[in-house]
Amino acid sequence: MQNFVFHNPTRLYFGKGQLSNLKQELDNYGQNILLVYGGGSIKRNGLYNQVINILNESNKQIFELSGVEPNPRVTTARKGIEICKNEDIDFIIAVGGGSTIDCTKAIAVGAKSNEDIWDIVTKKASPAGALPFGTILTLAATGSEMNAGSVITNWETKEKHGWGSPYSFPTFSILDPAFTKTVPEDQTIYGIVDIMSHALEHYFHHEENTLLQDRMVEGILQTTVETAPKLVGDLENEELRATVLYNGTMALNGMVNMGYHGDWATHNLEHAVSAVHDIPHGGGLAILFPNWMKYSIDENVSRFKQLAVRVFNVDAEGKSDKEIGLEGIEKLRDFWNSIGAPSTLSDYNITEDSIEEMADKTVIARPEFGNFKKLNRQDAVSIYKQSL
Ligand code: NZQ
Ligand code: ZN
Repeated sequence: MQNFVFHNPTRLYFGKGQLSNLKQELDNYGQNILLVYGGGSIKRNGLYNQVINILNESNKQIFELSGVEPNPRVTTARKGIEICKNEDIDFIIAVGGGSTIDCTKAIAVGAKSNEDIWDIVTKKASPAGALPFGTILTLAATGSEMNAGSVITNWETKEKHGWGSPYSFPTFSILDPAFTKTVPEDQTIYGIVDIMSHALEHYFHHEENTLLQDRMVEGILQTTVETAPKLVGDLENEELRATVLYNGTMALNGMVNMGYHGDWATHNLEHAVSAVHDIPHGGGLAILFPNWMKYSIDENVSRFKQLAVRVFNVDAEGKSDKEIGLEGIEKLRDFWNSIGAPSTLSDYNITEDSIEEMADKTVIARPEFGNFKKLNRQDAVSIYKQSL
């Protein structure tokens, strides 16, 4: 285990009725509020009206940025930055899933910078600060509600990059499982795959003595495997929604990965796919992760064996470590298939024709990626080919 410093400043309000804390949170900030949300799900399920009522009770001046896309675009972040600068915004509230929150992070940082936000996303420029912002989460998936990461797409150049800064943690996040009850089946499944993928990205590392971390990550995977099929069959069940919601936050708020660095190559491979084809992040991960695992198993077979035995209950009797590891990968694929996740790029009509273009995108930031197994452009081509 490496030395580490842990600091997460986001105040989390979790559970039924926690929206009642919004008013007291807003008392800490000035009058001008920018409300950021997506394509309208919060209007259809009534959350928009609830938030507006609280803002009105607090006598806030409300500005709005709606229409944040899934795979949020830099052009939308720029619109939000302009509103913040022109209207002297004091505080931003994001109401939505990871895309709305990620876009809000870019707006908050962009509002305090003279640089173009794309230069900050691509690390050509550094953030100088951020407007404070809070989130009301409506979809269990990314963990963006309690981390400093943000993923932004530039549709003109077909690039999608993750970035983050110490300024881009939400000051608070409100998580009521009831707000996630209207998430449709497909997005619920993508969220589950994303949560498990964050756990899996953590799991593949070469650090010694991560006993507690391993058990925590396995706990997230086991809990999701246990809960997901029930939730997919009972989407309005608040107890099941709560379990998955908490799992999603814990999978990527820094709590389970102290003292080591996970792999993260599969996320880079997926971001390249959605940069070119605009597919849902979790859908792309479901296709790619088992193929990355098969490609990387020889890097350290014992990690794959441990995962197979502890999470997927593979019977180790009479089998080699590699056979056990491979069986675990098959069980992961079977599990994702069983809940309805996609398994090949052709499920999204992605053909061999775009493999070279996607592979180019994987190495824009650096020529090699992945911490557990270093991959280059040619490796990306091979994994995409396996995924067709
Ligand atoms: O836009 P609206 O109308 O709100 O609809 C959304 C959207 O169509 C809908 N939705 C959300 N909550 C709902 C709901 N529909 C009904 N009822 C609700 N309660 O779901 C659709 C997808 O929303 P989106 O925010 O795009 O999903 P998600 O939370 O999965 O976010 C995906 C984005 O996050 C990035 C991904 O790359 C992708 O761009 N990631 C961000 C990370 C981070 N910041 O730490 C890490 C992740 O690995 C990931 O890369
Ligand atoms: Zn993810």
